Amino acid sequence: MKTLIINIKQLVQAENTPRPWVAGKDMSRLGVIENAWLLVEDDKIASFGEMKDLDTEAIYSGGEIVKEIDATGRLVVPSYCDSHTHLVYAGSREIEYIDKIRGLSYEEIAKRGGGILNSAERIRKASEEELFDAAYDRIQEIAGFGTGAVEIKSGYGLDTESELKMLRVIRRLKQETPLLIKSTFLGAHAVPAEYKGRQTEYVDLIINEMIPMVAAEELADYIDVFCDKGFFTVEDTDRMLNAGMKYGMRAKIHANELDYSGGIQVGVKYDALSVDHLEYVGDEEIACLLGSETMPTVLPGAAFFLNMPYSPVRKMIEAGLPVALASDYNPGSSPSGNMKFIMSLGCINYKMLPEEVINATTLNSAYAMGVQDEVGSIAVGKLANFYITTPISGIEYLPYAYTANLIETIFLKGEQY
Ligand code: NIG
Ligand code: FE
Repeated sequence: MKTLIINIKQLVQAENTPRPWVAGKDMSRLGVIENAWLLVEDDKIASFGEMKDLDTEAIYSGGEIVKEIDATGRLVVPSYCDSHTHLVYAGSREIEYIDKIRGLSYEEIAKRGGGILNSAERIRKASEEELFDAAYDRIQEIAGFGTGAVEIKSGYGLDTESELKMLRVIRRLKQETPLLIKSTFLGAHAVPAEYKGRQTEYVDLIINEMIPMVAAEELADYIDVFCDKGFFTVEDTDRMLNAGMKYGMRAKIHANELDYSGGIQVGVKYDALSVDHLEYVGDEEIACLLGSETMPTVLPGAAFFLNMPYSPVRKMIEAGLPVALASDYNPGSSPSGNMKFIMSLGCINYKMLPEEVINATTLNSAYAMGVQDEVGSIAVGKLANFYITTPISGIEYLPYAYTANLIETIFLKGEQY
């Protein structure tokens, strides 16, 4: 099956030579082909170019049916890659939202048994089927917002059985939805109530029981730890990442959201794929990230929703680092998986340019979830995961019109969604 899209006003993030990520000054450069065409064959991008060079005869010569779409006035944009979510959860937490409005901090809410432990209580009671149905709806929702690849974490189970239950739900989502999904084991999201005051024993449980069982069922691509003030220490993190590494789980960690936690350094030490949140980043952390293979990932939705200090994104980019943006979709700190809004927050709150937020939510976030060879740009051989916009003026309009969806047609793995 072939689909030929013609008269594309702007073909965005088109690459002749695919790059794993873009950093520093390159983040403000974006490959855009004006007045372009794009050919999809089966589930992949087959070729693309400028309209003036389109050889329709060659495309139609095989006698195969070619579906043609006229995209006059419209942009074709690679689907967002959302490299950090917790979208498998039971119930919402709007009560805490009210607590926050009344002035309680994230840490205070967590101390009162709210926060992650609140979600853990609910997830333990929910069936796998219930969790799947709710998460499936959220996947549909984010697909409609233009997301084509998503990383999903466990971390609301906090006991072996419930963590495995969450990861099995993610496995089913991988099988039953057209999105490209990666799963991350996050047993170390919080110390569960029954282990209060016995944090080291809980870390031992993760290392000796959970990680081996998760690995035995091949349920997780990656391992995550919430390495921060009031949660897990650098020493805990070191032990868990070391154990995960032995089972082939590369690290993607929560770091430096609440303080200069040392999370970035321990992440880089273990060659983490990404370190995420990064509200607290100084010269030392930047120096540590430079030259590493670890993608600094900022979660503007959580900082916005919790009124946290903003990560020094400009400073990181000016130092030559790459930056990825992700939604952190979860019921506590970021109850939204709308990556387009994340782009707008990137522009408004972090002073990123439209080109930079597009790079940060496609190419760089694809790298941050290990799928840069398959998605994240318009490149020959990559999966045909992209969307066609409504008629708009150009790429700048995407983050500017911050609540409009602006999506007319979605392609996932070569099929119209
Ligand atoms: O990424 N920071 C840690 N974990 C989540 C919050 C999860 C929750 O509050 O339920 C986050 O923001
Ligand atoms: Fe998170």
